[in-house]
Amino acid sequence: MTISKKRFGTTQDGEQADIFIFTNRSGMTAKVTNFGGIIVSLSAADANGEFSDVVLGFDSLAEYQNYPDPYFGAAIGRFGNRICKGQFTLNGVNIKLPVINNAENNLHGGGKGFDKVVWDAEIVDDSLVLKYLSIDGEEGFPGNLETTIIYTLTEENEFKIEYQAATDKDTVVNLTNHSYFNLAGEGSALDHELQLTASQFVPVNDQATPVGGYTDVAGTPMDFTTAVVVGTRIDEDYEQLKNCAGYDHSYVIGDNGVMKQFATLVDPQSGRVMQMSTTEPGVQFYAGNFIGDVKGKGGTEYHNRYGLCFETQHHPDSPNNADFPTTVLKAGDTFNSTTIYAFSAK
Ligand code: GAL
Repeated sequence: MTISKKRFGTTQDGEQADIFIFTNRSGMTAKVTNFGGIIVSLSAADANGEFSDVVLGFDSLAEYQNYPDPYFGAAIGRFGNRICKGQFTLNGVNIKLPVINNAENNLHGGGKGFDKVVWDAEIVDDSLVLKYLSIDGEEGFPGNLETTIIYTLTEENEFKIEYQAATDKDTVVNLTNHSYFNLAGEGSALDHELQLTASQFVPVNDQATPVGGYTDVAGTPMDFTTAVVVGTRIDEDYEQLKNCAGYDHSYVIGDNGVMKQFATLVDPQSGRVMQMSTTEPGVQFYAGNFIGDVKGKGGTEYHNRYGLCFETQHHPDSPNNADFPTTVLKAGDTFNSTTIYAFSAK
């Protein structure tokens, strides 16, 4: 495994950003920039040993900086997904976040989330270590939050993401990565087969914020407990799918802090397979329903549902849902989480 570094560009605020190129012995590569902790590319082999880039993204730093959405490949924080109406109560105090950026809600940390800041970067052995200090009150969140992301590409073709965070005041934290996977390397991702072990998901309203509690997947088009082609039922007349224009839901995948394999994605054409594991209690399966028409890497046109996100995290709007695993991080405590995307072919 080697990691090399080159300049990616200068942000509009005059900060320099680099791109880090990981290469393992079997030829798999990953490219990550310390702007937004963004995974710019992941190149994985198909059944014939042909490599393709399996994540959506842009060529230039300026494009990553200028698009507020769709968060291609980005590190998401402080709070992944929605906080309903941008407010919540913590220790009896109502906290009102200053930015409402998705209908009536705060999305992905607000106006300038972790996806839009330059992280300190250091190559340590076979990993890239990114650090960012989010100051007390940034985007309305309490506490100085020292955040670390460690990216590693293993010789077993696993791309591993580890998060750590510590605060000096009680706060809420929900960190994830927003990569859009397309194992064919092009076109719609709707013909991918997905198996996802969850027997329940978090139902939402038409602003994609949780309505409370969990719903069983059994007997619904949300059920991926056995492998199903993603496009088969995505447009069915089912309220939860209508609310989000397709799959855009947090699935309940197990205990917080316990590593478990929760999903397998297969592109039947190329034979590429991605197995996913995490210590998080949920995964937001977002089928790229709102990508729109975007010119991406190498001039490729991306459209809705050209990439699938598996955002391992705590459930959306957890600060307003006492039944969900807590996203409160107490002063002096450390948040830890690990997610692995493992690539193979069949
Ligand atoms: C996802 C979210 C979607 C959409 C997307 C960004 O995490 O669930 O509803 O907002 O981010 O385009």
